[in-house]
Amino acid sequence: MKIFKQSNSLVQTTLATLITALAIGGLATTLYSAEPPAGAATTAPATNSVEPKATAPEADKAMARKPLTGAELYSIHCNRCHPSRYPTERTAAQWKTIMLHMQVRANLPGSQARQILQYLQENSGR
Ligand code: HEC
Repeated sequence: MKIFKQSNSLVQTTLATLITALAIGGLATTLYSAEPPAGAATTAPATNSVEPKATAPEADKAMARKPLTGAELYSIHCNRCHPSRYPTERTAAQWKTIMLHMQVRANLPGSQARQILQYLQENSGR
C-alpha cells in the first residue's frame, strides 16, 4: 500500500512536470516564432506564379476604376520620345500650342490631352 502511494505521487509529479514543460514550450513557441500560428497555416505560400490573387472583387473594381491624374498621364506619355520638360519651363499659352502638336504625336485621346494640358497649365511658369 505504501509502495503504491509512493508510485502514485511519482506519477503525479512526472505528469505535472510534463504538463508544465509543454505549457512553457507552447507559450515560448507562440511568442517567439516568426511563423504564423498553426491556425493561419492554410494561407497560400508565396510563389512567383502569375495567377491573380484572390482579393475581394470590390477591391479590384475600386483599383481599376481609379482614374489617372494629369500628372500621371504626363509622365506615362510625354517622356517616350524625349525627356519630359518641367511644367514651369513654358507658359500656359505655350503649353496649349505644344499640346496641339504633341497630342497628335503621342496619339492621345482628347480627354487625356485635356487632362495633361490642365496639369501643365496649372503648374506652368506663367
Ligand atoms: C511620338 C513621340 C513623341 C511623343 C509621345 C511626345 N513628343 Fe514631344 N516632341 C516630339 C518631337 C519629335 C519633338 C520635336 C519638335 C517637333 O517635332 O515638334 C517634340 C518636341 C516637344 C517639345 C518642344 C521641345 C522641347 O524639348 O521643349 C515639347 C515641350 C514637347 N515635345 C512636349 C511633349 C508633351 C507634353 C508630350 C505628351 C503629351 C509629348 N511631347 C509627347 C515627339 C514626341
